[in-house]
Amino acid sequence: MKKTCIITGGSSGIGLSIAKTFVKEGYQVFNLDIQASEYGHFIECDVTDIAAVKDAVDKLGRQHGIDALVSNAGIHFSANIEDTSEADLTRVFNINVKGAYAATQACLPFMREQQSGSIIYIASDQAVVGKRNSFAYNLSKSALASMARTTALDYAQYNIRANAVCPGTIETPLYHNAINRYVEQSGADINQVHQEEAALQPLGRLGQPQEVAELTLFLASDKAKFITGSLQVIDGGYTAQ
Ligand code: NAI
Repeated sequence: MKKTCIITGGSSGIGLSIAKTFVKEGYQVFNLDIQASEYGHFIECDVTDIAAVKDAVDKLGRQHGIDALVSNAGIHFSANIEDTSEADLTRVFNINVKGAYAATQACLPFMREQQSGSIIYIASDQAVVGKRNSFAYNLSKSALASMARTTALDYAQYNIRANAVCPGTIETPLYHNAINRYVEQSGADINQVHQEEAALQPLGRLGQPQEVAELTLFLASDKAKFITGSLQVIDGGYTAQ
């Protein structure tokens, strides 16, 4: 029987690469997203709607079981704490944290029943280090690192593993939108900004979504069966500085 992976936010960027990579590896991939995609089985679902996530996951779990959950849906928001309104904080938390909580909570009964499962949170290097003008995003990604640790401890007895992948700067629509917004506001030269971003990374370039997908696939697999509660940094050396 094919293994089953549920991914959130699998229609773009890192999530899309993960969906493609898992499909190629032979997984049945179910993608809960608000924007459509031709990869895997698309299920329109807003991760902030806890009841909708539970409903979708329940149906999938009953039909197919759930081997892996990749909680990836997320948004970026640039501002320091003073410029972050309560509405901004709530929006970032609802998608980045509450969405992960909803997906995890919905998947766990099926994984417990199977006595196996791997949960992977796509967090960020900002779960490990602080970055400027990134108050709400940083907080939300640190929360995902915490979710990986506590879920790993609570569910190890059921042979369920939970880990967080912490990517550095990865070239995706989220990255390009953030750069475009910065260029619009500052009037900076876009090519120069891209070069500066690459130069910030010790390896001298941005990461690619496929590189994050390969690590995620490894964590889902039996090759990683002794890895749980960990933060896996994939950032070209950024956080080693
Ligand atoms: P992206 O913007 O290309 O893709 C995000 C996906 O999440 C989209 O398909 C979007 O429709 C979906 N999504 C957004 N809100 C949703 C909601 N309420 N319900 C369901 N789906 C929703 O972004 P990217 O860059 O691929 O990011 C994916 C994850 O990786 C995010 O959690 C992000 O924070 C994280 N990340 C990204 C980095 C980067 O440099 N691109 C670096 C570190 C972490």
